[in-house]
Amino acid sequence: MMDQIKYLDAKYIWGFLTSVTCGIVVGWILKGIASKKSYLPTLQQKSSNTNLEGDFDDEDFNEKNQFKMVIAVRQDLKMGKGKVAAQCSHAAVGAYKKLNAKNKSLLKCWEYNGQPKVVVKCQDENQLLELFHHARAIGLIATVIEDAGRTQISPGSKTVLGVGPGPEDDVNKVTGHLKLL
Ligand SMILES: *[C@@H]1O[C@H](CO)[C@@H](O)[C@H](O)[C@H]1NC(C)=O
Repeated sequence: MMDQIKYLDAKYIWGFLTSVTCGIVVGWILKGIASKKSYLPTLQQKSSNTNLEGDFDDEDFNEKNQFKMVIAVRQDLKMGKGKVAAQCSHAAVGAYKKLNAKNKSLLKCWEYNGQPKVVVKCQDENQLLELFHHARAIGLIATVIEDAGRTQISPGSKTVLGVGPGPEDDVNKVTGHLKLL
């Protein structure tokens, strides 16, 4: 009788230990898969993810650097929400294309950074052009969007300005004083 109980105990303990071990191993494997798939917006990815290696050739792009794009929206035009959204989308796509042609490694940094975009207010066309020239002067991408003017506003109006994507510090020099929209 005692022998039988001991035998059962051993069997259960063995079964229990096997389940726990399997659980740990499966968990460990899943964690490995999950962490490979995760798309953390940090530049550390560039050195830890072999797929991305080689895309970065500039030593300046270390983990400390942050990148962003700021979109300034003219407030004097009184555009509707949908209109503003469409104009900002134009700016984002336009800026992406420009940066893709000009500086691919910077574009990748911004992407792995979570491609931050910030939307701010700008008073009028004069201020929009001032910001544009300032951005260009310090080597940032700057994208002025002109509306075809079929709805709401007159044709050819400059509606929004995209500054960057670029290093956060540089972008802040141009748009740091503007209020969030
Ligand atoms: C790309 O942009 C970064 C950051 O502004 C700069 O350090 C680098 O020299 C640029 N590379 C090219 C090829 O323009």
